[in-house]
Amino acid sequence: MPAVVVVGTQWGDEGKGKVTDLLASEAELVVRYAGGSNAGHTVIIDGQLFKLHLIPSGILSPGTTCLIGNGVVLDPAWLLREAEELQSRGVSLEGLRISERAQVVMPWHTLLDELEERERRPEDRIGTTGRGIGPCYVDKVARLGIRVADLVDPEALADRLDAVLPAKNRLLQKVYDHPGFDREAVLAEYRGYAERIRPYVVDGAALVRRALDEGRRVLFEGAQGALLDLDHGTYPFVTSSSTVAGGACTGAGVGPGSIDRVVGVAKAYTSRVGRGPFPTELPDETGDLIREKGHEYGTTTGRPRRVGWFDAVIVRHAVRVNGVDLLAVMSLDVLAGLSTVRLCTAYRYRGRQLPDFPADLRVLSECEPVYEELPGWEGELSGCQSLGELPENARRYLNRLSELTGAPLGLVSLGRERHETIALTPIYTRR
Ligand code: IMP
Repeated sequence: MPAVVVVGTQWGDEGKGKVTDLLASEAELVVRYAGGSNAGHTVIIDGQLFKLHLIPSGILSPGTTCLIGNGVVLDPAWLLREAEELQSRGVSLEGLRISERAQVVMPWHTLLDELEERERRPEDRIGTTGRGIGPCYVDKVARLGIRVADLVDPEALADRLDAVLPAKNRLLQKVYDHPGFDREAVLAEYRGYAERIRPYVVDGAALVRRALDEGRRVLFEGAQGALLDLDHGTYPFVTSSSTVAGGACTGAGVGPGSIDRVVGVAKAYTSRVGRGPFPTELPDETGDLIREKGHEYGTTTGRPRRVGWFDAVIVRHAVRVNGVDLLAVMSLDVLAGLSTVRLCTAYRYRGRQLPDFPADLRVLSECEPVYEELPGWEGELSGCQSLGELPENARRYLNRLSELTGAPLGLVSLGRERHETIALTPIYTRR
């Protein structure tokens, strides 16, 4: 049966949680393949709001197996807190699995995230979520990481700590004037986590392979968005993982041939948390209106998000680097009531039009959006069950958005609830 990847096509917060939740209800295995507790996926079911960070949103669909893949950086304290909260609200964790190859976020990662951010010049600050994500990925690449397999083996954990902690403590003491971490205290704390996490630990790649071989529907749940991708995003104002669809292959342990469809999630406007260039930003009353109506406050940090018009240049870029087959357009309802709406079709840079998204942030910060203005629409959209029921101007906006990004529409979301959705194409089909 088909395997589908869901990715964000902007700067994260596009509404992947809702799309994943909808698709997870038809999937048998849902896999998170990148990021960590920096992600914030909001799902509303029957008026109940769930905010998930580490555990795949699929956990809210009973009977679904949910794997935290090897590409994820896992903070065990966060995981256990999230697990407890879900259980206290009646959500079963029976389906939860954790790859033994996932990296573990250690206390120095969270601390270094904060210290390194403070060390940067104000204009260079990334505005990280402070969850230790970057430093944990740095250690993975530097081969100084501790994996879940090490965490749940008491001797391996002690051995890895001895290999890593002395150097970390020297760095903390000499560069940051911090006392460092006590080996025994860290060992005791993490052995405690290990006891509680062990029942969930599996060979993640083998689990995914088995599911695919048995013909089960597998959903790969992306975190963040293409513009936060380490390679394809607005570097250095990015996260430290491969958020694009290719990341599902490395972050879950499957070959590219196993992926049937890539669903790109795009909000009907644009939002961004943290610093960095944002050509279509609306630092005005329209921006405030969209922020309030769209509840644009960070799920993870509570920070107000920067908001702006839909930017087809960035979504075109995302469609290309992800190989997006279908677009899920979210929060169309938020734009209702505006007399006119705008779509950014291209950038103007020093008198010429740029067809593609520039890599050079100096160029990007000088880019002016070229807008196409369309008439707005009024009214409550949430009851609409088909494109035909939408106001004509909303339909026109959607069609133009799809044309400009080069991706066909697969789904349109008109509110936060599951039923406030227009499904246009069956998603689980073979390539
Ligand atoms: P980090 O992932 O905590 O290192 O943060 C790096 C950048 O990615 C910052 O600008 C964060 O605000 C942003 N970021 C990380 N995760 C998310 C997310 O889930 N949604 C939106 N922005 C995010």
